[in-house]
Amino acid sequence: MKTTISVIKADVGGAPGHSTCNQKLIDEAKKTLKKSKVLKDYYVTHCGDDLQLIMTHCKGVDNKQIHKLSWDVFMKCTKIAKKEKYYGAGQDILKNTFSGNVKGMGPGTAEMEFEERKSDPVLVFMADKTEAGAWNFPIYKIFADPFNTAGLVIDPKMHDGFVFEVLDTKKGKTVKISTPEEMYDLLALVGSPNAYVIKSVYSKKKEIAAVTSTQKLSQMAGKYVGKDDPVAVVRAQSGFPAVGEVLEPFSFPFLVAGWMRGSHNGPLMPVGLKDARCTRFDGPPRVTCLGLQVANSKITAAEDIFADPGFDKAREQANDVANYVRRHGPFQPHRLPDEEMEYTSLPGVMKKLKNKFK
Ligand code: F6R
Ligand code: MG
Ligand code: MG
Repeated sequence: MKTTISVIKADVGGAPGHSTCNQKLIDEAKKTLKKSKVLKDYYVTHCGDDLQLIMTHCKGVDNKQIHKLSWDVFMKCTKIAKKEKYYGAGQDILKNTFSGNVKGMGPGTAEMEFEERKSDPVLVFMADKTEAGAWNFPIYKIFADPFNTAGLVIDPKMHDGFVFEVLDTKKGKTVKISTPEEMYDLLALVGSPNAYVIKSVYSKKKEIAAVTSTQKLSQMAGKYVGKDDPVAVVRAQSGFPAVGEVLEPFSFPFLVAGWMRGSHNGPLMPVGLKDARCTRFDGPPRVTCLGLQVANSKITAAEDIFADPGFDKAREQANDVANYVRRHGPFQPHRLPDEEMEYTSLPGVMKKLKNKFK
């Protein structure tokens, strides 16, 4: 019997503003998941204003019952958010009627199915105020950079490398790229996280190693409705990178697109679950990590990974970088290039100035 992990998330309302998710929504989500007969286990949390449903079951990925359950949770929570007048209530609920799968309806999903090994550590990453391509940098480092992952060099089980499935977000097509052989091709694509997003990673024996949520909210809605605020699931140990190798890229607060109004570059700050609140300039963008052990499709351990002094320096550096980039105000490269901005007043300004241009 195979185990499936489904991480399905949505912003159904923030309080105050887009900063965080109120406990009332988390309690409602827990109550609904507890009553469900289709799940083996679950964990509910939030990252910033995004409500996160982490579910284990035996029904495979893209299962209608699991997606319907998540949809019901988001609808119930939206109802509360609307009653309490939380900000952006129902923000990620782009459609009114459920039609079999939450994909394309607003929520983000990262799901994987696997045969359990003797022991299965699984890391669930959740980010707020950034886009799906934000995972490109750490996922590349974890599975292809020998300076990050010692096992790529010294563990015979990992020495052959990994295969990356990359999505072209504009064309909706994917390509499989094998490392280390095609490492430079991979970097040529994923260095543009706005255009290319790592969707999944497999071992050379075709075992699933990582999945990310790849939805582009703005493309679905046809207008700005908030950044994607992506999630990712990564398996660790015994032929996959060790837990510590999976976490290592987050010791560097790399720059991501998002932050205020989805229109600014800023450092991705790793924080414990209780610090997953986007405050300063609606950020800085945050990442949290729940470290799970999974046994017989149940969650037998869940640890708040970044609530650890090992990441204090990364947080300090993220604050320094935030101070530095903020001083650029409305100037690039703090502000994103025109075509990547989620809000723009430029067409209006150009119209106004049209006749003044000589
Ligand atoms: C970014 C985000 C926030 C909002 C900002 C303005 O993803 O959610 O930074 O863009 O708070 O929000 P509105 O336009 O709703 O006032
Ligand atoms: Mg929001
Ligand atoms: Mg959010």
